[in-house]
Amino acid sequence: MNGRPRAQRVLITGASSGIGAALAIEYASRGARIAITGRRADRLADVAVQARARGAAELLVLQGSVAEDDDVRRHAAELLARFGGIDLAILNAGVATGRDDDAFVVEDYVRTLETNVLGTCRWIAALLPVMRDARSGVLAGVSSPAGWAGFPGMGAYAASKAALSSLLQTLRIELRGSGVRVVTIEPGFVTSEITARNDPRDMPCLLPATSAARRIARALDSGSVVIRFPRRTLWPLRLLTLLPRAAFEGLASRLLRRRNANTPED
Ligand SMILES: NC(=O)c1ccc[n+]([C@@H]2O[C@H](COP(=O)([O-])OP(=O)(O)OC[C@H]3O[C@@H](n4cnc5c(N)ncnc54)[C@H](OP(=O)(O)O)[C@@H]3O)[C@@H](O)[C@H]2O)c1
Repeated sequence: MNGRPRAQRVLITGASSGIGAALAIEYASRGARIAITGRRADRLADVAVQARARGAAELLVLQGSVAEDDDVRRHAAELLARFGGIDLAILNAGVATGRDDDAFVVEDYVRTLETNVLGTCRWIAALLPVMRDARSGVLAGVSSPAGWAGFPGMGAYAASKAALSSLLQTLRIELRGSGVRVVTIEPGFVTSEITARNDPRDMPCLLPATSAARRIARALDSGSVVIRFPRRTLWPLRLLTLLPRAAFEGLASRLLRRRNANTPED
């Protein structure tokens, strides 16, 4: 701890599985008051039981979708009425619509952008005025290194995370001096329902969700505004994205062809 007060009133969106569920347990073990959101009531109820057992001072379950204006408005009103404010919002809810074929399906983009980008925007719009008035609070969005460049096979996801990282950076600049801290979280591979669909050989340094949650919470405590880990996976990726455009695209296309050649037919 570096003297910063630890967040006591915490919102975690998309907390019914993966990183969000692990964050709920992490903040519960710190004795925080926690609100969790997600669409699956049964999974949220399981996480709530675990979080209470770990010591959450209070646990508020908000079932619904970040893609629905009414749900977010209702959830924000309930959260603010119950907690009387908010110290930390981890806007984590997200979907990935990777494809093995080369079809370009507009619904993949609509669904992914609606959840990953607009779902985050809805929560920012609901909480930012309260944080601005209080001149305090942390808005943390869970983005991804997938947004750093065009990564074949995940066009909709990469586009959504590029948009999310960009809007978080813009907001961070605009809110400088306001007392509100905007944080971009870009984890490497973490065990979750999203990554359960991938071939483990394609996910170097896959981290358990519990250790990802612990790293995120510690970095938030320390005042970081951009949280990226693990370094040993992300540095090589970062360097790749700094290659001249033609070199990066040539390499990415060769890797894609090699992967397709190695993919067994169904
Ligand atoms: N795992 C990784 O390697 C990795 C790396 C970088 C970034 N991320 C990001 O981390 C975040 C969490 O993903 P995860 O990997 O932990 O996957 P996950 O286990 O699938 O968790 C996604 C969470 O988002 C929720 N969600 C999805 N659509 C929603 C909606 N419309 N409204 C409310 N909640 C919704 C899901 O709950 P319901 O289905 O119950 O709604 C679930 O709780 C995502 O933003 C993802 O892009 C993950």
